[in-house]
Amino acid sequence: MPEWLAGNVIEFDDGDRKIVTVGGREVVVFRWGDQYHAYENECLHMGGPVGEGLILGKVEAVLGENKELLREEFSDKEIHLVCPWHGWEYDIETGACAGDRRRKLRRYETLEREGHLYVLG
Ligand code: FES
Repeated sequence: MPEWLAGNVIEFDDGDRKIVTVGGREVVVFRWGDQYHAYENECLHMGGPVGEGLILGKVEAVLGENKELLREEFSDKEIHLVCPWHGWEYDIETGACAGDRRRKLRRYETLEREGHLYVLG
């Protein structure tokens, strides 16, 4: 499988991202914690540059005893990538669309070797 150089691993601090070209397609590569994630930079809605969007915790409702809404909080367990065009959200760890988890961003495998990060495609 072809390997596409994304850069040196020291260029990626936690939360950093970079957009690279893989086989003629734009791919966004993230470092999130100790892992790298790579997705095609094309939103499933209308093709927006999803990789350029905000990264936020999933908004979760906190309910009271009678199921009334007390407040909303940002999750620190599920993190979303938010498309800058119309706000569709994707789980940064799986690429799954928050509105329909059967639909996912196209994912690419990554490989760390000798201080370099590659996207396989
Ligand atoms: S193109 Fe991404 S939300 Fe519309």
